[in-house]
Amino acid sequence: MGCFCCFGESNKRSNKKINNTNNPQDDQPDTHSETVKATINENEDEKKEVSKKAVVCQSVVVQQLDRNQNFGGHGEIEETKVKTFTFAEMEYATENFKPAYFLGEGGFGRVYKGKLKDSGQVVAIKQLDRNGAQGIREFVVEVMTLGLVDHPNLVKLIGFCADGDQKLLVYEFMPLGSLEDHLHVRRRRERLDWNTRMKVAAGAARGLEYLHDKMNPPVIYRDLKCSNILLGEDYHPKLSDFGLAKVGPTGDNTHVSTRVMGTYGYCAPEYAMTGQLTFKSDIYSFGVVLLEIITGRKAIDKTKPAKERNLVAWARPLFKDRKKFYQMADPVLQAHYPVRGLYQALAIAAMCVQEEPSMRPLVVDVVTALTYLASQTYDPQIHPVQNRRKSPSSHRPKVNDNVDNLSYDSEQ
Ligand SMILES: Nc1ncnc2c1ncn2[C@@H]1O[C@H](COP(=O)(O)OP(=O)(O)OP(=O)(O)O)[C@@H](O)[C@H]1O
Ligand SMILES: [Mg+2]
Repeated sequence: MGCFCCFGESNKRSNKKINNTNNPQDDQPDTHSETVKATINENEDEKKEVSKKAVVCQSVVVQQLDRNQNFGGHGEIEETKVKTFTFAEMEYATENFKPAYFLGEGGFGRVYKGKLKDSGQVVAIKQLDRNGAQGIREFVVEVMTLGLVDHPNLVKLIGFCADGDQKLLVYEFMPLGSLEDHLHVRRRRERLDWNTRMKVAAGAARGLEYLHDKMNPPVIYRDLKCSNILLGEDYHPKLSDFGLAKVGPTGDNTHVSTRVMGTYGYCAPEYAMTGQLTFKSDIYSFGVVLLEIITGRKAIDKTKPAKERNLVAWARPLFKDRKKFYQMADPVLQAHYPVRGLYQALAIAAMCVQEEPSMRPLVVDVVTALTYLASQTYDPQIHPVQNRRKSPSSHRPKVNDNVDNLSYDSEQ
């Protein structure tokens, strides 16, 4: 298949390493890096526009903050359209953080469903942990800059509240919850058919592409995982929390380790060992997510036997033998998947989770490959169900599977 050929090409491009420190400014990659230069050719105008907006936004926000040191005022900051809320408005929206509106809790604090008083808009309100060491001013500037991000596959930040020691973020509400819920919570699992899975994977890749290739300076996500891929109507995926690694609290030890090292099971080995963060660390995490999407297994599952607890470690030996690929398909799919599509999706995942970062594809190539896969609609009524009862040795890909055209070397 043609779209995989580009992987080889892109691997020749270098990727920029940055030091992994707690200083938000240090976390930004050098925009003059080779990687950025390589991607700028295609996206020059778009990047310039985002960059210009970011500068305007930062200065406008700083001016506004200088005028109003309370930051808890109600209103809308011109240029950015990001709203500011008082804590009272947040209390009203969530009916005093009513337990019935509790959506979940992550490393930054609790998330509640809410309804804004003025507009009636339904939102998700994240109440950040108050132990955070970061000043309100830095928090607001950072968040406002993130408010500029505008892409169909990134969760929109509607506004924020920085009132006293209260810091809250107001996001668009994603009605279908997280991908993690759908993959790993039993009652919802069966709804994710093969086509939906590929659509979600392709959309998530496009969100990551925006952060890597369209933002200026580019953003390394650092915490790509299924719980951070949220789903809208019709399973439209959006990445969330892509800027929180920089604005989150830093005072709490557990929290720091989560933020700095990403999440166990998703973290690229070289990042875990050396702290060197690159765009390819995100690609590794994306590969883990894609594996979860295909297999229905968790990145780390302590309930499984020792050899199967770590998804990548379990998958690696299976990648080497194409005859075993079908064993990796999520049993919940009940063999309703296209053989060729399964092989190709696994080939992408295998490339993304390679140990050697330079061998991992660039996000643009992942997007190309997954967009193609998502366009190949699978209809179980038309296409035969795969026979799961066949023994591994008797399983042979059909001629039209054309798996030999995959550039992934199954003997790797
Ligand atoms: N915008 C949103 N719309 C709907 N639900 C959301 C939204 N943001 C978060 N949630 C839900 O709130 C829960 C907690 O999310 P949160 O991002 O705080 O934690 P997490 O993703 O598990 O971990 P992390 O802190 O590392 O991101 C998740 O179950 C998620 O489904
Ligand atoms: Mg999250």
